Amino acid sequence: MEMHVTLNGRGDLGGQIYRQVKAAILSGRLMPGQPLPPSRELASRLSVSRNTVTAAYDRLIDERLAQSRAGAGVFVRQAAGPSKRPHEQPPPGAVSPSPIWDRIAAPPPEFFADAPRYDLRPGIPDPRLFPYETWRRLTSQALRMSSMGTGWPIDPAGLPELRAAIARHIGVSRAVQVEPENIIVTQGTQQAMDLIGRTLLRPGDCVAIEDPGYTLVRNLFRSQGAEVRGVPLDSEGIRVSLLPDHTRIVYVTPSHHYPLGSVMSDARRHELLEWARERDAVVIEDDYDTEFRYDGRPLEPLHNHDDAGRVIYVGTFSKVMLHTLRIGFVAVPASLTAAMRTAKFLTDWHTPQPTQVAMLGFIEEGLLAKHIRRMRHEYRKRHDRIVDVLNTRFSDMLTVIPSNVGLHLAALTQPGVRDQAVAADARSRGVGILPISRFREGDSPDGLVLGYGAIAVADIDDALAALHSALRTFQNDP
Ligand SMILES: Cc1ncc(COP(=O)(O)O)c(C=O)c1O
Repeated sequence: MEMHVTLNGRGDLGGQIYRQVKAAILSGRLMPGQPLPPSRELASRLSVSRNTVTAAYDRLIDERLAQSRAGAGVFVRQAAGPSKRPHEQPPPGAVSPSPIWDRIAAPPPEFFADAPRYDLRPGIPDPRLFPYETWRRLTSQALRMSSMGTGWPIDPAGLPELRAAIARHIGVSRAVQVEPENIIVTQGTQQAMDLIGRTLLRPGDCVAIEDPGYTLVRNLFRSQGAEVRGVPLDSEGIRVSLLPDHTRIVYVTPSHHYPLGSVMSDARRHELLEWARERDAVVIEDDYDTEFRYDGRPLEPLHNHDDAGRVIYVGTFSKVMLHTLRIGFVAVPASLTAAMRTAKFLTDWHTPQPTQVAMLGFIEEGLLAKHIRRMRHEYRKRHDRIVDVLNTRFSDMLTVIPSNVGLHLAALTQPGVRDQAVAADARSRGVGILPISRFREGDSPDGLVLGYGAIAVADIDDALAALHSALRTFQNDP
């Protein structure tokens, strides 16, 4: 069916075409995979130059709504999809969100779906092994405290005792030296990033993020109006030489790359810090799951090498405990503490008091350390079993990226084997697994991210057997 485009007047013809095609994609009138009208044909139909149409299409391609296939034309991207189903379209004249939200993907639906039969999705700690009874006791104690509900009470940066306990905890577990007054308790990493953006970014500032990298952080900074640039990695970590000169913030996961699982080398850490010092840039170190280490000596956090006050260290209890608790923290250079504390206050006053008090008890009674020890023991078994099976049964299909830490590892597929197709096939066999391509914006090899936080050891062999069958399909018929 011919797509309808009308032009009014002579102004901004390319912009008019771009907006109408975009609206057709976002409303679902043009479906993923459908071709856009050939540029030559549309140009002649509208009596505009062909360049006007190609410029409009280029904008759609830049926004990842369309993609060009050599020799075949321009198509609606598979992931573009309608932002709303037709019957949910707002009535004409309804208030619209600011245009930035057209460029930011909604949370993927599978975030809210039931867990798959075999859950190899990364980053999910095992909910079955959490000490709910203990947490219930600590939370109800907190709710009985007389200070609960007596007016204004809580420092937006968090309970002083909890900040001190967190400083001690990361001092022991990660050798991070930080004064309690420079810690701000947050609702997880995600809020820490939001506060960092609010505190540091001016509109249009550049944030550099590892590519592949953590999509939620990328989208968060983009939603704050930053120019977010993906920077590729090599075997040592983010390629510092490719960081844009005008970068204000660099976000990295040096101790366990997300999603590749690799570790940033010592040399690259120093190069990054030196680069940040020279450019007056800030480095965010997201240290989200390195309490779980199975082998080898940890490299020191970047934070420990920072003598110029340029590193912001972000930690979370989402991985060592449960991500539904929504509690984490950020350790900031002293020069940023006051502004970030105010940003936290303006955002949500403070992290819920019962959670903070319960968390304090959990740390002070030695329960956090005990839980981490228990989970490390459990996750090590899963990690080792997965690595064993991958190395023995998958050696002709996957190249494992070595990783001895955290809750996931990654493996590259053979050239020509598309990770999204493998993940979709695996899903049809009951295996939830994410393709590396899900995390990238530029070019990087395809592969699979295998999380072992949520899968019991006893299920690993069956899960990997199903994954093997999925991969085999593509090996035989690439
Ligand atoms: C790279 C990375 N950092 C941090 C987190 C934790 O986020 P939060 O603390 O907001 O739950 C995750 C969770 O998936 C993650 O993948």
